Amino acid sequence: MSETTIKNPLTLEKESTIFFGTYARLPLHITHGKGCYLYAANGKKYLDMIAGIGVNALGYANPALEEAIIAQTKKVIHTSNLFMLDPQFKLAEKLLEITGLSRVFFSNSGTEAIEAAMKLARKWASSISENKRKIFAMTNSFHGRTYGAVSLTAKTKYHEGFEPLLPETGFIEFNNIADLEAKVTDDTAAVFLECIQGEGGIYPANEDFISKLKELREKHDFLIVADEIQAGLGRTGAFFSYMNMGLEPDIVTSAKPLGGGLPLGAIIGNERVSQGFAKGAHGTTFGGNPVACAAGLALINELESKNILDHVNEIGAYFKSELEQLKEAHPEQIVEVRQMGLMIGIEVKGEAAPYVQDAFEKGVLLNATNGNVIRLLPPLVVSKDEARLCVDVLAQLFKNAKQ
Ligand SMILES: Cc1ncc(COP(=O)(O)O)c(C=O)c1O
Repeated sequence: MSETTIKNPLTLEKESTIFFGTYARLPLHITHGKGCYLYAANGKKYLDMIAGIGVNALGYANPALEEAIIAQTKKVIHTSNLFMLDPQFKLAEKLLEITGLSRVFFSNSGTEAIEAAMKLARKWASSISENKRKIFAMTNSFHGRTYGAVSLTAKTKYHEGFEPLLPETGFIEFNNIADLEAKVTDDTAAVFLECIQGEGGIYPANEDFISKLKELREKHDFLIVADEIQAGLGRTGAFFSYMNMGLEPDIVTSAKPLGGGLPLGAIIGNERVSQGFAKGAHGTTFGGNPVACAAGLALINELESKNILDHVNEIGAYFKSELEQLKEAHPEQIVEVRQMGLMIGIEVKGEAAPYVQDAFEKGVLLNATNGNVIRLLPPLVVSKDEARLCVDVLAQLFKNAKQ
């Protein structure tokens, strides 16, 4: 399929009459995708540097993914978790092999993986002491929108009007060792951490903070939960970002690319928590859907067989050096470039949204997060030429903004 124009494309006016007003969509009616490009009803194609908010690791129309989805669809699309299914077993075993952890639970989304991790942490802690309930996350964190996950999401704009939130939750200042030491106690059940904060604006945790967290886990016997929903599955050049940082989490949460574009999340836990959920303690109708699991297996197979993690490191380094040059050329507009693999944030002076709008008009899809950060989460298979094109458009935007 190539570019074709569609008469009467979908409009934002219509959107506002049929949907709740939750999304600030671009005025873009997408018809299909191929590689790193999305094609629209206006007959134009767009270089997609946000990839379904970090979901489409293999870009669009990947043949291995399509084959896996079609093959499983022909066998069985859904059975629930009343029975045993090959793709679920295989994907779970693969995740255990990659992480060296002990048990898997599949959910449908990132926020549900967080809920499962919170419930597992509370259940595990309840067998130690009835006072061991407190769950901490970090300032500037994002863990999702359901009540538990939003209670661990730091920005107050996500809380307003929804209070009261989940009790016995709180925040530790990200990368602040003194605050960490002051807050965790024997009553702490778990500490949730994004090793590199995504929605917060691409901020990595520092080594000393992680060491102290591990040390305090020994002292106070709590769980460390690594939220790998955005940073996991190759995004940072390692299978999971905690692997770059010497952290040994007790629970890992995963989602976004895990189902190859279909909804799928997971928690993966170590021996400490392996007996934490008894039969009936938690569950879901759809979680671990066989088509999504088959797609997830195909995704991991592609990551491994095509050495995509090496590619991520190579293109990530290329982006970083090009963007650092842009920063030198435009110091009055670019504050900082933060990057790990293909998780990239360009902090700008003022609002990032106008840059995203201008890039869209030039045929490149970017994303603004945390107000002043242009975020790039391109498909992991993005080529050097496509990276170059993105940098060229950014260079034009910064040049134009100066004038
Ligand atoms: C780190 C992190 N955790 C959790 C979530 C929530 O995932 P979902 O949108 O699939 O519920 C997100 C989504 O952006 C995320 O980036």
